[in-house]
Amino acid sequence: MVETEIITVDPLNPDDKKIEKCANVLKNGGIVAFPTETVYGLGACMYDRNAVRKIFEVKQRPFDNPLIVHIENLKQLYEVAKDVNEKVRNLISHVWPGPLTVILPKKRNVPDIVTAHLDTVAVRMPAHPVALKLIRKLGRPIVAPSANLAGKPSPTTANHVIEDLFGLVDIIIDAGETFLGVESTILNVSIHPPVLLRPGPISVEKLEELFGEKIIVTEQARGLIESEKAISPGTKYKHYAPRTPLIIVESENYTDLSKIVSGVLDLVKKKIEYGKKVVIIASSETADYYGGYDVIKIGSRKNLYEVAKNLFKVLREVDKYEADICVVEGFDEKGIGLAIMNRLRKASGFNIIKIR
Ligand code: TXA
Ligand code: MG
Repeated sequence: MVETEIITVDPLNPDDKKIEKCANVLKNGGIVAFPTETVYGLGACMYDRNAVRKIFEVKQRPFDNPLIVHIENLKQLYEVAKDVNEKVRNLISHVWPGPLTVILPKKRNVPDIVTAHLDTVAVRMPAHPVALKLIRKLGRPIVAPSANLAGKPSPTTANHVIEDLFGLVDIIIDAGETFLGVESTILNVSIHPPVLLRPGPISVEKLEELFGEKIIVTEQARGLIESEKAISPGTKYKHYAPRTPLIIVESENYTDLSKIVSGVLDLVKKKIEYGKKVVIIASSETADYYGGYDVIKIGSRKNLYEVAKNLFKVLREVDKYEADICVVEGFDEKGIGLAIMNRLRKASGFNIIKIR
């Protein structure tokens, strides 16, 4: 056990002295949980192999699952990656700082432990004042996975981090709720054509517009299959899952909501007949149709950013109902909806019922 200090800062205007203190802890080999615009990360100085190892140990993360390098300026990009062609430069100039991680050929500066001995590196410039200031004060890139225990939903509040990592990390910076709620989009631009490894807040539609080319979206990126040897190593492990088993009820289209509602109700009634306790995760548009059952509202279908923002919080709430099964409504895969469905499908262990 270590003594964990919780430091509260203003998310938009973080106090210099407090962030300096956190940067000093990183300089001295410590590990610090900090907010990004997507989820909280657990950071170490990229060059400090011992601190990086601590991150894997504390999270119980397998060493073959590489970390994202967080940078604050473009000089740091060229410090860690090479072969950044014009199309990639154009893409990142439009989205950074922002929730896009690019996979590029790595430079030897990056310790092997960070990249799990791959010859590529994942890089992103986060759009959060606290994250940016922390990297600036350290003067070096910060490697960080999401600040949850491996397998648990990613943390979108400092309290989630405290639940998982209190007593295991040196500092937890509390800057309130993160802005977006799902992890960054990951795009492999080290191969051609580029391949989406993880859907996120920057949509495929947007990526194609900015990159000027078709992006490959695999079944795996949609969260529909789990491949033996994953292209993004992290994607082969069970993720985001509450203890309560999830079943997702998906539809071909979500314009006619009566289909999804009757699909959910049929399933719920069947489970109850078998003596199971059920909780439902529903949109604000459909929640009222499930009167009499336990329902967690996740947000509006008209604003999938709201659903994304609540997603991991809701997944952490599910277990409090002590149900035998949680039935979850599916969402449209457009825009950030693809990221939502990817996370839900994985959280369910690919337990999906499709309504026709
Ligand atoms: O929004 C985010 O990306 C958050 C915040 C904290 O920045 N971070 C995050 O990190 O989600 P993590 O470690 O939970 O997920 C990183 C994913 C893993 O699936 C990992 O396998 C993949 O990125 N990854 C890292 N380096 C890679 C590489 N060189 N090639 C392919 N995939 C890589
Ligand atoms: Mg993670």
